[in-house]
Amino acid sequence: MAIKTTRAVGVDIGGTGIKGAVVDLEAGALLTDRIKVATPQGAEPEDVLAAVKVVLERLEVHDADVPLGVAFPAIVTRGRTMSAANVSDAWIGFEAERFFEDGLGREIHFANDADVAGVAELRYGAARGEEGLVLLTTLGTGIGTALIHRGALIPNSELGHLQRAGHKKDAEAWAAYSAMERDELTWAQWAKRLQWYYSHLEFLLSPDLFIVGGGVSKHADEFLPLLDLHTPIVPAVHRNNAGIIGAAALAVS
Ligand code: BGC
Repeated sequence: MAIKTTRAVGVDIGGTGIKGAVVDLEAGALLTDRIKVATPQGAEPEDVLAAVKVVLERLEVHDADVPLGVAFPAIVTRGRTMSAANVSDAWIGFEAERFFEDGLGREIHFANDADVAGVAELRYGAARGEEGLVLLTTLGTGIGTALIHRGALIPNSELGHLQRAGHKKDAEAWAAYSAMERDELTWAQWAKRLQWYYSHLEFLLSPDLFIVGGGVSKHADEFLPLLDLHTPIVPAVHRNNAGIIGAAALAVS
């Protein structure tokens, strides 16, 4: 008789930190503490692999029978990373899934970080039961996006790289949380940038719901009420853990 897998490990590789935990797939909740290590300077493949190993060791995950999902901040098609916005250019056109599988000595499921956060919110969070078009954005080192229509993920949307007319910087360089920190903006000043970004997305896509993830979503009360949009906009239920939970969830589906 097949045994139903009810737990998996999720590792979320970001431009600044690499986070992991064991996840209860029925509840969509962390079963362990969240382990976080810094993303190595330059984010070269070998260094990132070594950091992922540290996360798995600290989680005491030695059993390859526990499914493992890994999320990465780049376009991912058929296991290859096809872009590199906040990581080394070595990832462009790189067989990343195979690289991690060889390096870790086990199978993994590999996907874009914002997409897996979208899956977590779809299964266990703010997008559950939403029949229309959901656009999840992660505001962090960059801006990641996940497009979900009628419960199906449309993978690899890269709407953080929308270009602003007449400006050199793309949306993420101007409006990500890292831009707020870099430019030492107040919440109100940052919200003006977000206002442009979300209004533009609203105009282009007419979504039914915006979900805001990333570490700063825990401070959603500081900036979401400052936005004036037609579309409802809510924080991700799983805040910055959505990537870990979604990566784990995809590892078994
Ligand atoms: C990348 C996306 C990623 C996002 C959030 C962007 O720079 O292009 O693939 O989802 O950052 O990490």
